[in-house]
Amino acid sequence: MAVNIVIGTQWGDEGKGKVIDVYAGRADVVVRSQGGNNAGHTVVLGEETYKLNLIPSGILHKNALCLIGAGVVINPKTILKEIDELEKRGITCDNLRIDPRAHVVMPWHVELDGLSEKFRGEMDIGTTRRGIGPCYTDKYERSGIRIYDLIHTELFERKAKQSGKLKNKIITAVYEGQALDLNSVIEEYKSYGIRLSKYVGDVSVLIHKAYLEGKNIMFEGAQATLLDIDFGTYPYVTSSHPLSAGVFVGAGAGPKMADDIIGVAKAYTTRVGKGPFPTELFTDIGDYIRVKGGEYGTTTGRARRIGWFDSLIVRHSVRVNGLTKLCINKLDTLCGLKQLMICTAYKKPDGTIIDDFPPVLEELADCEPVYETHEGFDENICQCKSFEQLPASCKRYIDRLESLCDCKIAIIGVGPERTQIIER
Ligand code: IMP
Repeated sequence: MAVNIVIGTQWGDEGKGKVIDVYAGRADVVVRSQGGNNAGHTVVLGEETYKLNLIPSGILHKNALCLIGAGVVINPKTILKEIDELEKRGITCDNLRIDPRAHVVMPWHVELDGLSEKFRGEMDIGTTRRGIGPCYTDKYERSGIRIYDLIHTELFERKAKQSGKLKNKIITAVYEGQALDLNSVIEEYKSYGIRLSKYVGDVSVLIHKAYLEGKNIMFEGAQATLLDIDFGTYPYVTSSHPLSAGVFVGAGAGPKMADDIIGVAKAYTTRVGKGPFPTELFTDIGDYIRVKGGEYGTTTGRARRIGWFDSLIVRHSVRVNGLTKLCINKLDTLCGLKQLMICTAYKKPDGTIIDDFPPVLEELADCEPVYETHEGFDENICQCKSFEQLPASCKRYIDRLESLCDCKIAIIGVGPERTQIIER
């Protein structure tokens, strides 16, 4: 029996999907605990590529129970589309369960996400515009609609009418937007509720039972540490807690359950959206990595910003998540670069050198990266199966990341396929 958590350590898109899928193959239960369809996992299985936004990647393994916890916000239309597409490709979703406490992303949340971003103008966050923030706002304001409501038609109608009326007022009077046709929204969502009802179950209870039965459980994190609402680069963050602690709150499980908390990082850094990014590359090297690594958003298609590996960020993640292991992904993407840089510290405007990631963005924005230069590599490492097979310069790079991040690097990603990993 093993209970593992997989967490993103940078700004997301670290290739968690592949690591998660490796663990999911060994898991009896796979749990998603926070976020919504702002997340995107790409899993390559043989010739097939699967892009999942809401459904845990365990769904690709026939016998795994896939759970969506109370902390997730669910766009019913999106999840049903995912279910339909998977089933069309011969993958059953009978093992999927959604917690009745999970909140529902309604069309007004999506509308308000776009309108508030537009209103913020230059100060926009660069959200995915999937309604995630407005849905969590309603949750914490205690006016949200939950999956339980959605599957109980009369209750849903009552709550949706009340909420929708207020949202239409905000859309029209505050943002000068177009009111939604509430009757047609309610009818449409009633039909989604009917379809989703067969998947609803108490996720907290299901996890507890599986734990008592000695099953292998994997919690798959969505987004990443620097997108955490408190410990990320606020306000350029998402509205949930993508940290290891958030996993337990969102699933309804106790933290002592975890055996390993595995953080996933890229061998470099990327981010989408706005906000300071000390090691960002504006040169040909950035373009080289972007193209070679296919660094375009799974969910939005946006080109990702690229930078060198920043050890302050990953060390921050090791601390706030209590990571026990690290996975360094996409090492192969750096092939062909003569030199690799690692940010080991920041220099503040007064010349002070710091090695802890600053708590607020205003301080981060003023920091300059201090780099260490390492020899690059030209060899194709995609077929390497063990650490020893890697070129000497690669091994030195990994060893240095391990000592800077103060965490064992247990997994190294050397290619997009599920099999292209080195486990140490
Ligand atoms: P929201 O989650 O759509 O509100 O977006 C807030 C910020 O989080 C934006 O910068 C998004 O680009 C970013 N974000 C949200 N989800 C993900 C993800 O899964 N990967 C990377 N960035 C994300």
